[in-house]
Amino acid sequence: MPTPALELSGIEMHYGFVRALDDIDFHVDPGEVVALLGDNGAGKSTLLKVMSGAHKPSHGVIRVRGEEHSFHAPSDAAGAGIQMVYQDLSLVEPQDIAINLNLGQETLRKGPLGWLGFVDRKEMRRSSERELDRLGVRTAPMTRPVEMLSGGQRQVVALARSAIRVNGESQGILLLDEPTAALGYEQTKNVEGLIRRMADQGIAIVVVTHDLPLCYEVADRLVILNRGKKVADLPAATADRDHVVGWITGSRESMFPTTVTS
Ligand SMILES: Nc1ncnc2c1ncn2[C@@H]1O[C@H](COP(=O)(O)OP(=O)(O)OP(=O)(O)O)[C@@H](O)[C@H]1O
Ligand SMILES: [Mg+2]
Repeated sequence: MPTPALELSGIEMHYGFVRALDDIDFHVDPGEVVALLGDNGAGKSTLLKVMSGAHKPSHGVIRVRGEEHSFHAPSDAAGAGIQMVYQDLSLVEPQDIAINLNLGQETLRKGPLGWLGFVDRKEMRRSSERELDRLGVRTAPMTRPVEMLSGGQRQVVALARSAIRVNGESQGILLLDEPTAALGYEQTKNVEGLIRRMADQGIAIVVVTHDLPLCYEVADRLVILNRGKKVADLPAATADRDHVVGWITGSRESMFPTTVTS
């Protein structure tokens, strides 16, 4: 058994009286794609937020590459090599693709008296192109402002940016919340390809989605939540579609029957 890239044990999360997550165990290995499924309100986004450091669980342990961590903010998780792509993508609309790919880590060029001062746009474009080539991604020209891109192209830019950030780390972890929710056929295929290639480079990927065909296309394993509980965890290759739908809707019994303690 490899050491999981990310492992959660006994995670509980409450919003007031709502128990959004109930004793969740979860792991994802390096190079593995895990699809996180469940109906609306099942707890998928909440679990992703726990993994990304946006929410602190009420109980439970988080391990990154075998080491226990306590995240107080997304920057703690980012420091451990975890990147989350939010549904709103957080791109800077008027700026071009290269700038967006490098947000927060702009390449600086030495100024006239040796001062750091200029953002080296040329070098940034060159390195961005290299990174996108490596990921096998094709978008619009680097100099095009994000506000002029389609929804799908923006999604690809946001994904690529996270992949680039995560790749600086050894064995990064990427968390995606419904990356194809607003995409058409062609662009969904694009994003699927990108997810698969990132995993093939060793990145561990957790993807929340309602898109079952996408799961079968890119996921190695399916984890299904129902009303805050994990009800299934199985290889995608052997997952019967009707069973999966049953676990999602709650008509099928959990793979993990609760042990009665009294
Ligand atoms: N900020 C919040 N405050 C209070 N309750 C919340 C909050 N966020 C989520 N919840 C509740 O926690 C539960 C899980 O919500 P979550 O957003 O994780 O679901 P989800 O599986 O991502 O659903 P969807 O598919 O609709 O995105 C729901 O009952 C929801 O109402
Ligand atoms: Mg959600």
